[in-house]
Order: sequence, then C-alpha cells, then structure tokens
Amino acid sequence: MPRILVVGRTGQVGTALEAALPATGWPFVVMEAPALDLTDAGSIEAAVATARPDVVVNAAAYTAVDAAESQVELAYAINARGPGLLAAAAAQAGAAILHFSTDYVFNGTRGPWREDDATEPLGVYGASKLAGEHAVAAANPRHIILRTSWVCSATGHNFLKTMLRLAETRAELRVVADQWGAPTFADDLADAVVRLVPRLVAGEGHGLFHFTGAPWTSWHGFAEAIFTGRAGPRLVPITTADYPTPAQRPADGRLDCGRIARVHGIAQPDWIAGLGRAMAALSR
Ligand SMILES: NC(=O)c1ccc[n+]([C@@H]2O[C@H](COP(=O)([O-])OP(=O)(O)OC[C@H]3O[C@@H](n4cnc5c(N)ncnc54)[C@H](OP(=O)(O)O)[C@@H]3O)[C@@H](O)[C@H]2O)c1
Repeated sequence: MPRILVVGRTGQVGTALEAALPATGWPFVVMEAPALDLTDAGSIEAAVATARPDVVVNAAAYTAVDAAESQVELAYAINARGPGLLAAAAAQAGAAILHFSTDYVFNGTRGPWREDDATEPLGVYGASKLAGEHAVAAANPRHIILRTSWVCSATGHNFLKTMLRLAETRAELRVVADQWGAPTFADDLADAVVRLVPRLVAGEGHGLFHFTGAPWTSWHGFAEAIFTGRAGPRLVPITTADYPTPAQRPADGRLDCGRIARVHGIAQPDWIAGLGRAMAALSR
C-alpha cells in the first residue's frame, strides 16, 4: 500500500491534512522540524530515507509575508532550497511530491490568473515561493504544485483569527477593500489533497494548478462574512494606501481554478461553508 510523508505538522494545512489523510486508507507519517527541517539538508534526506514514502506532501513554508522582506535568506531557505531538496530526495526514493504555492507569485494587476500567466512577485515571500515552484518542478517531474490563497482555519495565524481577536477590544475595524482574492479553508485544501494523492501516485495529471475557495471577494468582504449574524465591530472599508505594510501585496490575486476542475474533476469549495465550519470549531 502506498505511503505518504507530510511535512509541516503544526501549520494550518498540516493540521488539516493530519485529520483528512485517514480517508485515503493509506499509511502516513506527519513530520515537523527539527526531525524534518527544510533548512537542514541532512534531516530531509534522513527523514525521506526512513519514511520510504510513495508521495511527499509539503505543507511547510515560511509564511510571514512582511517579515520575509527582512529575512530574505531564511525565506528562500525554507520556501525554495528546502522544497527543492525535498523534491530531489523524493525523486531519489521513487516518490512523487505535492507542494503548495501562492497567488503572491503574481503582480496583481489583472486577475483572474491562469497557471500559464506570467509571474512577477511583488515581494520576497512571493519570489521565494516562485523559486520553490521552479526548484520542485526541476528536481522531480512527478509533482503537483497547488497555488492557493488566503488560507484560513480555526487553528494557526490567519485573517479570521485576527479579525475575531481585534473585535474583542475594538468597536471599529478598518479593513482593506481594494485587494481581491478568495479565502481557502485548510480543510478544503486537505480534501483536495486526499483526492489528488492517488492520482499523483498513479501518474495522472502532474503539473501546476490553481485551487482556492469561491466566490471571489475583498478582505473587507471577508470580514463582513465573518461578522454576519453576530454582534461585531463596525467595518470601515479602506484602501491599500491607507494601510502601508513592509511587503506589497497583489491588488488582484484572484486565481482561475478551471484547470484543476478539467484535469482532476475538483471543483472550488464554497469558502462561506468553510467559514461556518471554522466558526463552529472555534465556539466549541
Ligand atoms: N497562509 C496563507 O494565507 C497562504 C496563502 C497562499 C499559499 N499558502 C501556502 O500554503 C502552504 C501552507 O500554508 P499554511 O498557512 O498552512 O502555513 P503555516 O500555518 O504558516 O504553517 C507553516 C508550517 O511550516 C513549518 N515550518 C516553518 N519552517 C520550517 C522548517 N524550516 N522546516 C520544517 N517546517 C517548517 C511551520 O512549523 P512551526 O510551526 O514549527 O514554525 C508550520 O508547521 C504553504 O506552502 C504556504 O506558502 C499559504
């Protein structure tokens, strides 16, 4: 029976994968640093050699978009070199690899973006993730790279948790209304992985795919959905210029998810349903 090795146990997607992968019926191991540290080539090789996987799922990344601007070396080590080494170790072991990337590989001028559109990251995080895509693809032809956006869940650091935390102490929240994209709940990503892994192992449908929740919205629209039907703060729409950050973000990060539907039959999940599940989990 094929074996799965997951990297990034404590992250949003790693946590969701640990819950979802039993549905494959396949044995799996979920690892984290230091046992598998993407900045440590030796740990990568040793972990893959020990796990002897048929497929590796890399849910680990350096995801601090603003901090990446000043931690360039670390962002590239975790998002580019490490995934390249992991993909090579997987290839050496005869395993395929599924890796995640981001809408931040685009400059955000005019979405929805297709997989074959030209990339132009605006910041270090996006550039390091793009370098990671190239490193994974070059090291292991048996790959699926899933670009996603605005990942959210009841665990970890994300926009949903930030909004709920700020709402505890503020009557008014100013939220950017001119950046467009789509929230993607980690459990929906994990369900997509459950469907993709057997196809990857079978050699079907390798390559680059976009996968996000639907429908598209703005951060302000996402915040409105979070507080719909419950007592919440007044939400004031602001522009990107009103909220300067160290890293520039794409104004239009909408990803066209048609290819994954055509090739793998995987439809975009409704993120509002995902939001409902996350809110229910948070209230337990
Ligand atoms: N979050 C988003 O909005 C977003 C948007 C688009 C794409 N993505 C992509 O989706 C994927 C999953 O993101 P996520 O939101 O689940 O990330 P996350 O919650 O920030 O989790 C990242 C994981 O990577 C681990 N990690 C960090 N440095 C590592 C290292 N040197 N070696 C091994 N593991 C390391 C972290 O471990 P520690 O907890 O120990 O640090 C954590 O488990 C990533 O590829 C990300 O780039 C995310």
